[in-house]
Amino acid sequence: MSDTALQEKVQKTSSHQITALILAAGKGTRMKSPLPKVLHPVAGQPMILRSIQAARGAGATEVRLIVGHGQGLVRNVVESAGVICFEQKEQLGTAHAVKSADIDNLEGEILIMNGDHPLVEATDLKNLFDNFRELKADLAVVTAIVKNPGELGRIIRQKGTLRAIVEARDASSDTLSINEINTGFYIMKAAVLKNLLPEIKNNNTKGEYYLTDLVTLAQENEYKVEAIQGNARIAHGVNTQSELSKASKYLFKRKAEKLMEEGVLILDADSVYIEESVKVAAGCVIYPNVFLRGRTEIGAFTVLEPQVFISDCVIGKSVQIKQGSYLEKSEVHDSCSVGPYARLRPETILKEEAHIGNFVELKKTTFGKKSKAGHLAYIGDAEIGDDCNIGCGAITVNYTADKKKYKTKVGNRVFVGSDVQLIAPIEIGDDAILGAGSVITKSVPAKALAVARGKQFVKENYVPKGSGFQADIDKKES
Ligand code: UD1
Ligand code: MG
Repeated sequence: MSDTALQEKVQKTSSHQITALILAAGKGTRMKSPLPKVLHPVAGQPMILRSIQAARGAGATEVRLIVGHGQGLVRNVVESAGVICFEQKEQLGTAHAVKSADIDNLEGEILIMNGDHPLVEATDLKNLFDNFRELKADLAVVTAIVKNPGELGRIIRQKGTLRAIVEARDASSDTLSINEINTGFYIMKAAVLKNLLPEIKNNNTKGEYYLTDLVTLAQENEYKVEAIQGNARIAHGVNTQSELSKASKYLFKRKAEKLMEEGVLILDADSVYIEESVKVAAGCVIYPNVFLRGRTEIGAFTVLEPQVFISDCVIGKSVQIKQGSYLEKSEVHDSCSVGPYARLRPETILKEEAHIGNFVELKKTTFGKKSKAGHLAYIGDAEIGDDCNIGCGAITVNYTADKKKYKTKVGNRVFVGSDVQLIAPIEIGDDAILGAGSVITKSVPAKALAVARGKQFVKENYVPKGSGFQADIDKKES
């Protein structure tokens, strides 16, 4: 790149230097929940992470988060996302929150957003910046027209021009009838914020420092102030559990619609809970009440029956996951069948055409091609070869009194009879047969038969005449 081109690029970037300030210190009293409001999950993700992603996606070079209530928890969640946290010691209002963010060193454009509007997306914010620049504004407030403005700040216009924002609790009944509201998103030049923030007073019903007072102050100081209308996504604030649930519902429904457009058959788009990060290939069928979370990927023609829960799993093609199965951090290769009511715990790998039936639990186990565990088994810390049969009630005894975990290794084509217990550490060779009910404590070589159970004895005429169950029944009937 030539020097001039490089300089131009730097200038272009620096002229659009954006700092995002996200307000997240409030208690969220109306949520009535012990969890800080901004950590409540929206479609599976703490809502504050969605705001951070949107700000970054819109070009914010730096994201500053104002934290206070429950800040330890909030910092834990956001710090890995590379944001800088500033503490607001007392929650004295939205303007006071911004003051806590060490604003004296800010340059360029500032995006201020409430941390409780989780549906906002990078594209929404980019559009706002485009508008802000086209209007050559010094300060822009993002507004929206809503049906039920409730407790939101009302936008006061005179002859169409923005004049002030009045909080609902400070508003007259005339003002309350206005349905254009303040979304809590603002874009401004750093100089406006630095000059005017110290001027904000707390002479209102709540005795708080309201950021919304910037509008009137900016006009008094002859800055160019504009109202930009945002969309319904931006406007959706979360102050209550009901608003939180609506936000999740919106995202789940949108994801379902997108997948249907891409060729996924969803029986009821209102009752599937698929996070945005999940990939589902065309040709899959998804029944109601299915949860797909995190980094899950589902291959083509796979069927997910009702009440299936899958988190961070890679599922291959033509797999059948039957009703009520619970899968976490596992891999299921092509043409397997799982469930009904099966559980795959982390680090399980099912190779092609394996079959896991009802009430079978696997953990940290590689389960070979075409192998089967049809019913009621526990297999943990194990390697099971190809073409094995694991009988009903079989258990790998992986955890012993010394509180350590031990491995079970089973070769190919092994027949593990019903109710066999494999006391790990143990190895079973290829083609071996383990007799039903055996407690196998020593390794078994290839092709061997191992039986380890008490011998049956039969004592004839053991029950004396006139006693036992039949005698009881005879008595009742006589
Ligand atoms: C605020 C706006 C209102 C707007 C609405 C949109 C003010 C005075 N009012 O009202 O005009 O219609 O958002 O949702 O700004 N916060 C702090 N520290 C504080 C107080 C709040 O960090 O001292 C944070 C909260 O965590 C939250 C955000 O600021 O993320 C907004 O606070 P909230 O109490 O929800 O304000 P609203 O009453 O919704
Ligand atoms: Mg709010």
